[in-house]
Amino acid sequence: LASIEVDVSSLQPGMSLTVKWRGKPVFIRNRTDEEVKEAGAVALADLKDPVARNANLPPEATATDLDRSAGKGKENWIVMIGSCTHLGCVPLGQAGEYNGWFCPCHGSVYDTAGRIRKGPAPENLAVPTFSFATDTVIKIG
Ligand code: FES
Repeated sequence: LASIEVDVSSLQPGMSLTVKWRGKPVFIRNRTDEEVKEAGAVALADLKDPVARNANLPPEATATDLDRSAGKGKENWIVMIGSCTHLGCVPLGQAGEYNGWFCPCHGSVYDTAGRIRKGPAPENLAVPTFSFATDTVIKIG
């Protein structure tokens, strides 16, 4: 299926946008340094789902903040499928206890790395295959 290219040059730190890809919403967020620092300080043992769920990494990669993000030097960028891993509702951004995402359907709470922290969802939000085509364009798929 087709890949898409998204211009993220207007996304200042703290801003996000949602695009459609393969019929699903994809969240792209440019996190603030503070958010990256906070998410990076979380111990794997405190996570409900310790697996990265990042299609760009081996399946055994763990859900460190770095391995949930776009990687070294791009840690501020998070790209995820916007589909709650409970029953597929679309979570709301910049919401919930961790100011990450909050699913209004049954109250699942995700942090700024899209990791499930509370509520019924079993897994972190999925990170799709993506790469930076240029410094300001993200290619998804
Ligand atoms: Fe998100 Fe149930 S679908 S909490």
